[in-house]
Amino acid sequence: MAKLPIILAPDPALKLKCTLVETVDDEIRRLAGDMLETMYAAPGIGLAAPQVGVSKRLLVIDTARDDEEPRPLCLINPEIVDVSEEDNLHEEGCLSLPEHYADVVRPTWVKVRYLDRDGKTQELHADELLGTCVQHEMDHLDGILFVDHISALKRNMILRKMVKTKKLNARDEAAD
Ligand code: NI
Repeated sequence: MAKLPIILAPDPALKLKCTLVETVDDEIRRLAGDMLETMYAAPGIGLAAPQVGVSKRLLVIDTARDDEEPRPLCLINPEIVDVSEEDNLHEEGCLSLPEHYADVVRPTWVKVRYLDRDGKTQELHADELLGTCVQHEMDHLDGILFVDHISALKRNMILRKMVKTKKLNARDEAAD
């Protein structure tokens, strides 16, 4: 497995609508493994393929707490098949927007159908932290970031700071 570089917002690669994974093969399984390693190293609880520059409908999640056994999940071509009527407010962050957080309103739970790493169809009822995380990561597959769910004022403030961060990063890299 290999750790992959994570693309920071704003970046056109994070705004793309990703394409379906046609075959769940070794290449996809390797990508899922690399994404899990990248996510754990960050550390984070979710990562979507476009965040590592692959415009495919694939994401990984692990919402287990530090004192629990890891629960790695890999969702390929996920689709929401049922959704709660009531909404929930959760503070969200994103590995593509490090150190920025905002409250986002989403449905309390979703039922998702997806392919696992063996290409088998699975269903997942996701609520609480997992529900938020699944919806956040699925948004990435359609080019949507959590800041797209908040006020334009707050979004622009965060994105302006990210532009500055990326400039500083680029300068540091050039100096190395
Ligand atoms: Ni994210």
